[in-house]
Amino acid sequence: MKILVTGGAGFIGSHTVVELLDNGYDVAVIDNLSNSSKKSIDRVEQITGKKITFYEADMLDQAAVGDILDREQVDACIHFAGLKAVGESVQKPWEYYENNLQGTLVLVDAMRKHGVKNFIFSSSATVYSDPAFVPITEECPKKPCTNPYGWTKSMLEQILTDIQKADPEWNVILLRYFNPIGAHKSGLIGENPNGIPNNLMPYITQVAVGKLPELGVFGDDYDTPDGTGVRDYIHVVDLAAGHVSALKKIRENCGLKIYNLGTGHGVSVLELVKTFEEVTGQKIPYSIKPRRAGDIATCYASADLAKKELGWEAKYGIREMCEDSWRWQSMNPNGFEE
Ligand code: NAD
Ligand code: WQD
Repeated sequence: MKILVTGGAGFIGSHTVVELLDNGYDVAVIDNLSNSSKKSIDRVEQITGKKITFYEADMLDQAAVGDILDREQVDACIHFAGLKAVGESVQKPWEYYENNLQGTLVLVDAMRKHGVKNFIFSSSATVYSDPAFVPITEECPKKPCTNPYGWTKSMLEQILTDIQKADPEWNVILLRYFNPIGAHKSGLIGENPNGIPNNLMPYITQVAVGKLPELGVFGDDYDTPDGTGVRDYIHVVDLAAGHVSALKKIRENCGLKIYNLGTGHGVSVLELVKTFEEVTGQKIPYSIKPRRAGDIATCYASADLAKKELGWEAKYGIREMCEDSWRWQSMNPNGFEE
């Protein structure tokens, strides 16, 4: 079975390509390298000992995407390609809507012209916004998003739902990721943010490696056990394995399905910092800062449906997530740059 992975040079995409190759799938990757490096593809080949067909192309380039589907007889697409920085999306809404919406529409159009109707989409827990309840089940109502990035995910979920409804031959799985961190055990691939990281774990690892002086903890007065924000951190290798399980589901002609990919456990900012210090022996200086606009107190998944229907559950805990994030960062202090 051949899988087209868009955004396959990125953080989650590269780890998913490893899992796909290890599970016997053939893989072709499209990425415009706007937020990644071709080196991640080379590293994935090093890890797996297998060859990847790589196309440096933009999802907005209709002709290029069409040509790739002409050349590759793919059975399914896993669509990671997209812009993902929440704060940036508030500054550049047009760029986010264009890239994420149009990029997906171009892909779906090329797929239907080639009779490829199996689609796995990278959605996000952000569609629940400030969740109506926790643990968050897939039935938890979607709420208005607080930023354009979140809206692109919410809108694309609706678009893909409507496409599947109109043509039931489509199998569409919407995977709502919680907070992916960690890295492959080899330390060869991992998260490689441009500039100062927005997300907690890359910020912590950059403090640990000496690139940043201290962590700012955004608020300690939330209604949580220690006052800091609680999230469902999930190891990126577990998340990647979730895509392989979703592909098996697609082979059953599942129609439209929605699954949370999380661990089901909430961890606070200070718990994550403490665990990181324990596991790595690195001290993380921090100070308490005001709350970050748009943040919520608590967000964690019910992971029951994915366990029941996909036979998938997260294997790794936060100790392994910290250990593996640190291995990646310490082996590659400048990411994929030499
Ligand atoms: P990433 O930025 O590392 O990977 C995305 C990849 O898509 C990058 O390699 C980038 O170069 C590529 N890309 C972007 N626009 C493109 C275009 N127009 N054409 C071709 N390639 C393009 O991000 P990630 O963390 O691996 O996230 C992957 C997907 O998962 C994204 O859709 C993201 O929104 C979603 N997601 C991520 C998180 C998270 O916290 N990392 C959480 C929930 C959902
Ligand atoms: C986690 C916790 C912060 C940085 C984001 C997106 C979400 C999804 C995952 C894509 C919060 C605190 C953070 C720092 C801090 N992405 N924090 N100091 O905001 O839960 O989710 O990534 O879909 O849509 O919004 O993740 O890692 O930014 O924050 O104290 O320097 O860490 O306040 O409580 P978040 P995060």
